[in-house]
Order: sequence, then C-alpha cells, then structure tokens
Amino acid sequence: MRDEGYPPEQREAIYRVIAERRDVRRGFLPDPIPPDVLARLLNAAHQAPSVGFSQPWDFIVITDRDKRQRIAALVQRNRDEYAAALPGGRARAFDKLKIESIVDTPVNIVVTCDRTRGGRHTLGRHAQPRTAGFSSVLAVANLWLAARAEGLGVGWVSFFGEHELAELGEELSLPPHLEIVAYLCVGYVSEFGAEPELAASGWARRRPMAWAVHADEYGRRGLPGEETMDLLAEVIAAIEPLDAGAMAAARERQDRMTKPRGSLGELELISVRLAGLAGACPPPLPEPACVAVFAGDHGVHAQDVTPWPQEVTAQMVANFLAGGAVVNSFAAQVGAEVTVVDVGVAADLDPVPGLLPRKIERGTKDFTAGPAMTRDQAIAALTTGIEVARDLVAAGNRCLLTGDMGIANTTASAALICAFTGADPAEATGRGTGVDAATYARKVDVVCRGLARHRPDPVDPVGVLAAFGGFEHAAIAGFVLGAAALRVPVILDGVIAGAGALAAAALAPDVAGACFAGHRSSEPGHAITLEHLGLRPLIDLGLRLGEGTGAVLALPLVQSAARALRDVATFDSAGVAEKDHLRERLWCLRPRK
Ligand SMILES: Cc1cc2nc3c(=O)[nH]c(=O)nc-3n(C[C@H](O)[C@H](O)[C@H](O)COP(=O)(O)O)c2cc1C
Repeated sequence: MRDEGYPPEQREAIYRVIAERRDVRRGFLPDPIPPDVLARLLNAAHQAPSVGFSQPWDFIVITDRDKRQRIAALVQRNRDEYAAALPGGRARAFDKLKIESIVDTPVNIVVTCDRTRGGRHTLGRHAQPRTAGFSSVLAVANLWLAARAEGLGVGWVSFFGEHELAELGEELSLPPHLEIVAYLCVGYVSEFGAEPELAASGWARRRPMAWAVHADEYGRRGLPGEETMDLLAEVIAAIEPLDAGAMAAARERQDRMTKPRGSLGELELISVRLAGLAGACPPPLPEPACVAVFAGDHGVHAQDVTPWPQEVTAQMVANFLAGGAVVNSFAAQVGAEVTVVDVGVAADLDPVPGLLPRKIERGTKDFTAGPAMTRDQAIAALTTGIEVARDLVAAGNRCLLTGDMGIANTTASAALICAFTGADPAEATGRGTGVDAATYARKVDVVCRGLARHRPDPVDPVGVLAAFGGFEHAAIAGFVLGAAALRVPVILDGVIAGAGALAAAALAPDVAGACFAGHRSSEPGHAITLEHLGLRPLIDLGLRLGEGTGAVLALPLVQSAARALRDVATFDSAGVAEKDHLRERLWCLRPRK
C-alpha cells in the first residue's frame, strides 16, 4: 500500500509556509526571541539533508549588540562599494533598498560549512566537493521556513567581500577550516510581505514557472501535463498590437498637459506608443535600461570586405567588458547597464562578470560559398536572444537596447536588408567602418553573389537568417521578439540592429510596436530598413559605430517622453488649479475652446 502523505490541511500548511516565507529586512520588532523558539529553529536547520550525512554546518548565534554594530559597519562598507559600481538607473533604485537588519533584529545567526568534515570518503562529496556548501544552504532553508511558521522574519545578508568575510571570521573567532555560508538576521515582525520585497520595489521580477521547467532536455519547455512549447512560436504568438485604449488615453492626456498641443513633436508619439505597449497610461518609466551587445564573427570576412582583422571582434568584446569602449562611456553617461553576449565570437573568451557565454559556433560560414549557418543554429540564436531579453526583464530592466559587435557584419547586414526589403545591393551596401573604393565594390559584389546563390525568400525569415547570418543578427531578432512579447520597449541601434529587426518583423509584424529607432546610421541600408519598419529615427548624427551607441544616446529621449506624460501637470489637475500664480502664467497655453 502506498503512503498517502499528509492529510490535506497539513499538506496545505507545508505549501503555505513555502509560499509565504519571505526575506525580511524592514519592520522588525524589538521583542526578544524566547530560547525555546530559537532552539526549534536551530533544530529545524540541524535536520537538513547533507551530502554523505556529513552535517557540515555550525550555527553561531549572535546577540551581542556591539558585535552586531561592528558587523553592520562591515556590510555598510561593502554596500557602498556595490552602490558605486551600479549604473545610474540602478543606483537610484538601490538607494531605496534596505539590504540588512543586523542591528534591528535581536538575533543574528551565522551558518558555516566545514568542507572537510567526515574525511575524504564522504559519500557523494568525494566526487563533487562543491556539494559541501549545498548542505549548509539546505540548513538555512529549513530554518527560514520554520521561522515563517513561528512568525519570525529572516533576512539573509551577503554583502561581505573577501576582506569583510575575513574580518567577520575574526569577530566570531572562527577556525580557518570553517567557511561562512550565510549571515541571517532574525526577529519578530508585524507582517510579512505578500511578495518578495525586490519584486514589490520593481528591482526584479519572478520568472514564470513555465520558463524554468524543461521536459527531457533543456529547451523543451513545458509544465507537467501540458504540451511542450516551441519557444520561438510561443513568443511570436504572444506579440500583440499596441493597446488602443491606453494610446487614446495618452493622446488625450498629452492634449491636456500644460503645453501647447503637439509641441513635443515626436516625443508625444513615443509616449503614446509606450502607453500602448504597457497597456497603461501613463506607462512605467523605461528605467532601468540595459544594452545587450551581441557579438559574433562572420565567415564572409574571408572575402576581404573589411580592412579589420577578425580578431578585433574578440578584442572589442574584452574592451566592452573592461568598460573602455564608446558604448560604455555613453552608457555611463545615461545610467544604462552594458551586458555582452557572445553568440559566435571566433575565439575563446575568459569568463568575466558582464559576459553571457552563449556561443553557438565560432563564427558563421562564408555565405558566398554556402549558408552562413544551419537552420537549427539560426533558431538557437533566435532563442538565445529571446532568453537574454527575458532574463534582463526578469532582472528588473524596463527598457532594452540592442548592441552588436562583429567584424564584417555590415556585409551580412546588407545581404539581410536586401533579402527582406528587396533593395538593390548597390543601394543597401555601405562603407561600414570605412572601406576604400575597391573594397566597397567587392562588398557589393559579395552581397550580389550571396543573393544570387541563396535566392532568399523573405516569408521564411529563419531561412534568410541562416543564409546570411550572423549569429548576432539572429540573436538581436530574438531579443526584439522577446522584449515585444513582454511588452517592454526596445531601442534599436543602427544597421545591424535594423537588419535583425527586419527578421523579427518578418516573423511577427506587430513587433515594430515595441521598437524605437535610436538613430539613423550613415550606412545607406539603414534608412531603407527604417522605412520598411515604419520607424522614425530619434537622432541623426552621422554615427556609424554600432556597439549600441546610437541606441544608448536615444535612451534619455524615450525616458523623457515617458516622464513628461507621467509628471507634467494638466490644465485641469488640482495641482494647477490650486496654484493661481501658475495658472496665470500658463493661461496662454490653454487650448482655445
Ligand atoms: C544566497 C542568498 C543571499 C542573499 N543575500 C541578500 C542580501 O545580501 N541582501 C538582501 O537584501 N537580500 C538577500 N537575499 C534575499 C533575496 O533578495 C530574497 O530571497 C529574494 O529577493 C526573494 O525574496 P523572498 O526570499 O522574500 O522570496 C539573499 C538570498 C539568498 C538566497
């Protein structure tokens, strides 16, 4: 006979405590925790599973206030360092977050791990030494759940750098073979939040469960009992037109704002589209923002279409990651984050913070000799772009920007633009980073030969992407689709982004509603692209750098459009009506009846 598990109400209590456990950082009460309650929590922790039953944890219960104050100072130091490293948009949001309650809680508990406990033959850990730490984390989880059931809030503090951890170890007289796994602040609270505080504040969002569950192999997403989903098809199906009601409300509000009608020109239209995208008026501010620089190499480089060696792609990726490129300086100016996605660089890249390693292959193939990539690779790159967009949105970004890096990618872009718009290669091909007349003629010829060879069919966008590549174009197409499906605005950079967006629009025409053209590049194919997409560029400064620079420069314009719609007073709002002096000054702006 099968064990039927717990009676329903007890089962419910288990799921309830799991759902209602919260990381708590505010609203602690000074009430002491009775020793028997504390003992129950520690006993719950002590019953955690552990690799080879090694029980690597110890618990240091800190009540000494002076000690806690010294520890709080260590955390403050680390917090200040972290805050200084954040891009502007994030820094403002972080300023409002509380990340620790070391002194506000009556008890702090440090959970440690002894990686050596049990000796070398510890079952399981012999093969996977890193599992030692996992066991201590499970002890934390047990304590956290038990605390919720007891009405006790727990806040996990991890703002300790290596130096601070060493100082904390000294403060606790910790023997060197013990590693600190968790620092927990525990105390009674008057209430628990309904959702994670970081979700409530908009810092990050919960990923839908369907994003995280895969059937049999990674990528076959599907919840138990449901059909598995094709991510690309699912995202395309989720892209809908802009919300007419929210757009009408935005138009109507623009007309009531304390300014002459239409005086904000294109910015009014942007604000209306942002409202339509969000389905709300006013829409949320497009902040924080993140530019994703998709990097890949191109087989067509072999056709001598650029004076730059292919290695420059990897070198520039290193430059982005070191913060030394133009896109980094522009992003710092406007408070955006830069993330780099390796979708196909023809070199091994060191894992460093800020780099998403998503290499599909080390560069595409030469499209004059055959397809740049397989259909499966094109779909993999599209999927990667979707996943990057989703992850950046889940991380709290409210505006995505496209960037790119790939020596020879203006040649691939020209081929894609011709394939999707029917443009003449002589008109769509540009001089890229600045090529001489002979190279330019070769470039046009390469595009012509590619088109003749592949005879691309624009109703098969995946086929077009596979024919000409690159991986960054396909990934940008996925990125744009992913953002549009989540109804998050995406600011396109120049011609490479435009070529990717053409593929996205061929897959899902309504995607253009989520797109804002950051600028008009001096590459001739870009103007053709923007016209085809029906997008008006926000700036036109003769840029032809790529990297995301044009998109980043346009970010403040998009943000200002949203902010004006949200913040500017209306003639009929109480604020204006009450302020007679303001009304007097503004009367001349009133629309004539
Ligand atoms: C390993 C780990 C470290 C954490 N460190 C911190 C921290 O330093 N500061 C903080 O405010 N929250 C920290 N948290 C709490 C998370 O932000 C929190 O668990 C998350 O937002 C989900 O919210 P919830 O626990 O209420 O469901 C940490 C959580 C974990 C699991």
